[in-house]
Amino acid sequence: MRLDKYLADAGIGTRSEVKKLIYWKKVTVNGETVDDPAYRLSETSLVCFKGEPVQYSEFEYWMLNKPSGVVSESRKNSLKRGEKIPEGEERTVVDLIRGSGKKDLFPAGRLDKDTEGLLLITNDGKLSHRLLSPAKHVEKTYYAELSGPLTEEAAERLEAGADIGDERPTRPCRIDRIRKNAVHITITEGRYHQIKRMFETEGLTVTYLRRITFGPLSLDETLKPGESRMLTGEEVRSLTEEQGNGK
Ligand code: URA
Repeated sequence: MRLDKYLADAGIGTRSEVKKLIYWKKVTVNGETVDDPAYRLSETSLVCFKGEPVQYSEFEYWMLNKPSGVVSESRKNSLKRGEKIPEGEERTVVDLIRGSGKKDLFPAGRLDKDTEGLLLITNDGKLSHRLLSPAKHVEKTYYAELSGPLTEEAAERLEAGADIGDERPTRPCRIDRIRKNAVHITITEGRYHQIKRMFETEGLTVTYLRRITFGPLSLDETLKPGESRMLTGEEVRSLTEEQGNGK
């Protein structure tokens, strides 16, 4: 790989910024200053920026507390720093990730535009595919506020599986009633508008929805809506080890 691409992928700066840093002799490879951005690295090259080893990883994993009003999509041409959203296009969840060196980030799954909460943003297609595979049944817990009280009988019916007009009823789920009009609901599927459609079968509208867990991840409560952080090594490991419960 070229040295400038390596540094840009590692999040040191944009391609043009890292070229300047290389010309300014801020970068060494195996202890020698290199001033050619096109320098070819080998598998074992040790790259340092201002004397510090550069941590390169192919993939990035971000936890976003998605705010309402933003679509769960990525942008074909990612925005450059400071660049405005093109006219006629909507703000996407990927636009909210600041400080990433990757241009190929995308949301692992979708939340509705008006849903808030935990969304994994990554460029690891294989992991995302595994986590979203319908066969895996990865658990997702949501906090939902409802237009009216949920009776115990209605909760039991939903837990057993609801006919939401699809080919099959929803898989069994878990509902914990928090208040008369608010629940935690844990589902193992990801059908279109699933939670809203489930409560509709009981004559209730979901007035507020926030995802609080996704597989082994829990929403970091210090993140305000719109804020994100990189996953810790431990969180990434827990995701790669996630087996779901659908074997
Ligand atoms: N179910 C919904 O209805 N909406 C979401 O965003 C997620 C699950």
